[in-house]
Amino acid sequence: MGVTGTVRGTPERRPRTVNSDAGPFPRRDKAAIALLIVRRKPLTLYSLTMDETLLARTITGNAFYNRAMTSVIAVANQKGGVAKTTTVHTLSAALAERGRRVLMVDLDPQACLTYENGFDPDALEASIHDVMLGRTKLDDVIVATGDVDLVPSSIDLAGSEIHLLTKTGREFVLGRALKPVVDEYDYVFIDCAPSLGILTLNGLTAASDVLIPFQAETLSHRAVGQLLETIDDVRVYTNENLRVLGAVATMYDGRTNLGKHVLAEVSEVHDIEVLPPPIPRSVKVAEAPGRGRSVLTHARRSKSAEAYRSLAEEIERRT
Ligand SMILES: Nc1ncnc2c1ncn2[C@@H]1O[C@H](COP(=O)(O)OP(=O)(O)OP(=O)(O)O)[C@@H](O)[C@H]1O
Ligand SMILES: [Mg+2]
Repeated sequence: MGVTGTVRGTPERRPRTVNSDAGPFPRRDKAAIALLIVRRKPLTLYSLTMDETLLARTITGNAFYNRAMTSVIAVANQKGGVAKTTTVHTLSAALAERGRRVLMVDLDPQACLTYENGFDPDALEASIHDVMLGRTKLDDVIVATGDVDLVPSSIDLAGSEIHLLTKTGREFVLGRALKPVVDEYDYVFIDCAPSLGILTLNGLTAASDVLIPFQAETLSHRAVGQLLETIDDVRVYTNENLRVLGAVATMYDGRTNLGKHVLAEVSEVHDIEVLPPPIPRSVKVAEAPGRGRSVLTHARRSKSAEAYRSLAEEIERRT
């Protein structure tokens, strides 16, 4: 695959639809506007002004008002090879097809997402590593990859784990870095590494939602259980509004009873929803990264491409 990408200092941006210059609300106005919102009938909530919507989100967390706001979705599972990166790449492309503005953040030192999108992680001038060390603003490392923007990673990122361990507020570094750019997007997907280390904690702390890909095979629910425990800790210590959007069954083979059994087991044991539809196992999905694209363009009409498109619609409905 031809990896010729270079990082541009000033990334291309699509027009803003959110007035991010609205600025913080004076404290004394908050109670008054909150009252205004509460008094409105539910059906009129969608006609809130942007200022009111921003305020509502501040007050309520993301639960109800974020339709007009950004969903920051951490795609996490400490088990390796369950299609986290594939899901970030393909879902982002599917949402971009639907006209959404999407940013992908590669938070894995393996940098597979960066590589799949045509960038050589070793040739980058700057990456998320520099952002995590506080050397560069996140805005300055964003690169455009067709319709979707990307914050690339590099192997150096492994070093920032050690650096972060000694820092106060270490879990909040990514969230703070994202803050100035988040309103420019409808969706931000964070591709987490297969670990529950400090980088993944940064991803979960920065996120409004978590999506958990899992492979429908024996014992896969053990990893999901451990992740849910970590999410509980994150809610207690660093991000009380973090919501589990659901799990996604990947590399699914609907012909076997095992696949169906594991799907039911994961949702029953952990009381989480497995979002429809399961993503079928397909060689088309596995081939796509080698061509520097997702299955959506590699095999437009394949069952896996259609499944990821349906999943994107499902996520739109729930966010
Ligand atoms: N639906 C699918 N059908 C067939 N192969 C798939 C499918 N989804 C993903 N794969 C392949 O499975 C492998 C692992 O996928 P991926 O890299 O997305 O997993 P990951 O969870 O990000 O891995 P890691 O934990 O190492 O970051 C890749 O080779 C990918 O192409
Ligand atoms: Mg990955």
